[in-house]
Amino acid sequence: MTIQQIATQPFSDQRPGTSGLRKKVTRFQQPHYLENFVQSIFDSAGDIQGKTVVLGGDGRYYNQQAIQTIIRMAAANDIGKIMVGRAGLLSTPAASTVIRKYHTHGGIILSASHNAGGPDGDFGIKYNTANGGPAPEKITEAIYQRSKEIDRYLILDSTDVPLEQCGTHRVGGMEVEVIDPVADYAELMEQLFDFPAIRNLLAEGFTLRFDAMHAITGPYAHEILENRLGAATGTVINGTPLPDFGGHHPDPNLAHARELVEQLFSDEGPDFGAASDGDGDRNMILGKNFYVTPSDSLAVLTANAGRVPGYRNGLTGVARSMPTSLAVDRVAEKLGIDCYETPTGWKFFGNLMDAGKVTLCGEESFGTGSNHIREKDGLWAVLFWLNILAARKQPVAGIMQQHWKEYGRNFYTRHDYEELILEEAQGIMEHLEQQFATLEGRRLGSYRVEQCDNFSYTDPVDGSTSSGQGIRILFEDGSRIVYRLSGTGTVGATLRVYIESYEPDPGKHQQDPQHALAPLIDIAVELGQIDSRTGRTAPSVIT
Ligand code: G1P
Ligand code: ZN
Repeated sequence: MTIQQIATQPFSDQRPGTSGLRKKVTRFQQPHYLENFVQSIFDSAGDIQGKTVVLGGDGRYYNQQAIQTIIRMAAANDIGKIMVGRAGLLSTPAASTVIRKYHTHGGIILSASHNAGGPDGDFGIKYNTANGGPAPEKITEAIYQRSKEIDRYLILDSTDVPLEQCGTHRVGGMEVEVIDPVADYAELMEQLFDFPAIRNLLAEGFTLRFDAMHAITGPYAHEILENRLGAATGTVINGTPLPDFGGHHPDPNLAHARELVEQLFSDEGPDFGAASDGDGDRNMILGKNFYVTPSDSLAVLTANAGRVPGYRNGLTGVARSMPTSLAVDRVAEKLGIDCYETPTGWKFFGNLMDAGKVTLCGEESFGTGSNHIREKDGLWAVLFWLNILAARKQPVAGIMQQHWKEYGRNFYTRHDYEELILEEAQGIMEHLEQQFATLEGRRLGSYRVEQCDNFSYTDPVDGSTSSGQGIRILFEDGSRIVYRLSGTGTVGATLRVYIESYEPDPGKHQQDPQHALAPLIDIAVELGQIDSRTGRTAPSVIT
């Protein structure tokens, strides 16, 4: 086995986005494309020689080849040891768990999260640091800078490592340990949640359905929900990970998890439903005939954390991404704890957690998590809800309604306009910014604009500033419209419009959010001139 030094040329499009480098599979298959980025990671990830690095992915198309390439490159770059999930699989939360538990130098996660897979789908790669979280911007920027000047990469001339069984192998001077992808994660969940109480709830006849969407959480959900908690066989649907996710979008929302939604909204349906995404970090929570928005879910978890063993001693604080609804802010206020507002993307929560400032955090994009790891965690959120349901013995809808009664309801929706022409989407953002000066104080329908800005965040821990994080139109009554361009899309541009209003009156809580928010939705379209600039008369996805 010899180390080969391969001459290469930089690609100009390897800047990591909201969550690592995400491109079409076909782009990653270009000669040297993956290798350049991996070498850029090894060259930028600090003193990595001799250290242990975790490796795994969500099993999507190209996962297997990429894993073998990365192992050979790691060996050539003098990495001490690779811990890789069996069959190359690790959910994103499990990878974070393993990085933290074994105090490794970091990890490489192969995933394009909720994006479609298969030969024509998307692939992605991201680097996580020793705290188990996505690398902060100064590292992702260093990786990008390196990718622009790279002229060689190192790779060992060796055969594929068998990954189908747990065990240890040597590749050159490096050790490769193939680990059970589920065990460490399942053990951590048992420490955090009251498994006996959930087991009792299920034994009493409470029924649930978990949709793994043919993605990575299948094996985790089978083990935890069915084997350890005793949920009936068949509780987990679409539980076998497939390279193309069965041709579907592995995105747990009302549009893409339709089969599950239909079951929960039918008379014979189960009491509780949940789904997770491609790499297992997102979650959608459903009750019987009831959909819980991710923003409300974060608020409910915060309000009920005292009922859950892992959080019984209190929360130090909570955090939400800027576009996430203000529902959790109201709970934090009542609990007397801090609530931080961060830019979109999980990487901003890590510093707050490492500094002990927050325990729970979440995003409106179906992401919820805690300081047990440094990634959002789909199954964790499901178990948190099951623990609350076991403790309160009320249906999901009842818990939500009681919550709104106590705190008021933040009506919330997100309208996505996908695959726009980049210039048109940028034009909308520029047009909005140009209106800032004339908008403040102006009356729009029954709302008066209080403030407009492009959100900027200064990290309270390291003092770094991230600007241009989304346009906010804030109204006097606390309503908001937020506009952002997605940082994870791979085709054209995606405009996300987040719309929110607050309703204290319980008599008005039963309205459909699209109806309650209709006047603000119209204002949002008008202010952005969305239809005239894009030719779109409706959003592509509403969540
Ligand atoms: C989207 C979500 C964001 C999430 C990210 C990764 O990013 O909006 O909340 O952290 O995916 O899962 P966006 O495409 O909006 O940049
Ligand atoms: Zn994901």
